[in-house]
Amino acid sequence: MIAIGCDHGGYELKKEIIAHLKNRGIEVKDFGCDSNESCDYPVYANAVAEEVSAGNCELGILICGTGIGMSMVANKVKGIRAAHCTDCFSARATKEHNNANVLCLGARITGSGLALMLVDEFIDTPFSEDERHIRRINMFS
Ligand code: RB5
Repeated sequence: MIAIGCDHGGYELKKEIIAHLKNRGIEVKDFGCDSNESCDYPVYANAVAEEVSAGNCELGILICGTGIGMSMVANKVKGIRAAHCTDCFSARATKEHNNANVLCLGARITGSGLALMLVDEFIDTPFSEDERHIRRINMFS
């Protein structure tokens, strides 16, 4: 199960990502927002991050205009390793090396075609389980 949330800047892209995930047979829990009307990204970042932190959802996806505000908020929640990604290498590496559990996207930066690739890369790449990566994650967890 994947938790997903956005602000007004990410609303249209969120709809495309949800359709893509459902198409892949992946269950999605949507934490809003539900329109293009201006709203506050910390509300949705916190809701998704808390859900992942509590273990109710394995991974989270957050979308705002830049992806930056969402990642700042999510990373303040205990147990969250949120990665703002704009390229496939980073979306893969942040799972392999950082065991990231929240992907943050910027709808005003990343087009939907690339965004769906980043989502797939993030979901399909496992954590390496390498001792050195576990050690480094434990140094900031
Ligand atoms: C909203 O205008 C914008 O500030 C927000 O979507 C996001 O980019 C914040 O980091």
